[in-house]
Amino acid sequence: MNIVVAPTVEAAGELAAELLDEQLRAGEAIGVATGSTPLPVYDALARRQRDGADYARASAWALDEYVGLPAEHPQTYRATLRREFASRIGLLDANLHVPDGAAEDAQRAAADYESAIAARGIAVQLLGVGANGHIGFNEPGSAADSLTRVVDLAERTRRDNARFFEGRLEEVPTRAITQGVATILRARRLVLLAYGVAKADAVAALVEGAIGVHCPASFVREHGDVHMIIDPAAASRLSSTTVRIPEEAAR
Ligand code: GLP
Repeated sequence: MNIVVAPTVEAAGELAAELLDEQLRAGEAIGVATGSTPLPVYDALARRQRDGADYARASAWALDEYVGLPAEHPQTYRATLRREFASRIGLLDANLHVPDGAAEDAQRAAADYESAIAARGIAVQLLGVGANGHIGFNEPGSAADSLTRVVDLAERTRRDNARFFEGRLEEVPTRAITQGVATILRARRLVLLAYGVAKADAVAALVEGAIGVHCPASFVREHGDVHMIIDPAAASRLSSTTVRIPEEAAR
């Protein structure tokens, strides 16, 4: 695993954009995430697109989607990814793929999404990490061989995400469709980002703790091509033997 401590969140976004740019230009499939973490990456890609990068042929595949929100709800991950990512980098809406969280049969929608991803193949998957060690919506307890499926959201995850629902916990869905751990690990390259002290424990557990279902993010260590880009605060609970924070980054 290649771990880089970037001096700022903006710099982390630039580094990740650098790792996605070539595949996007080449029209490959990239895996995209929601939440606050990928926003600096999307900002950096939008700047590159304004400066002439052509991403129109690429396709993007979401990690997850809430189950049960009406299709027109602004906090569905489809709406979020349209707003924060696709529309800003010139990606065609038809090339943005998200599990159908409004489907009558959510299990079926999950299985269909799994098949579509398996058929396409993801070149690079962008990942954030939950404070409890989740990736996508693979909460603690999720197995290494899990595939795309319907899951119940952990209470902590719902509380963390209530900020996107004007702080109203009761508005946050209780279920989601998520790519499984095995689905995510099938991507040829993983780019995992984390910032802030709130992620420091999750980062330490995923890098230095035991690999297991208590911390689904720890399974990324079994992947051969992982780039982890974190800020000094997220790196603050790593032992110094694992990672050295460059002096300019620590200031
Ligand atoms: C969310 C998403 C994840 C995301 C994580 C971290 O619930 N399902 O894909 O990586 O939690 O979110 P944030 O980046 O806002 O901290």
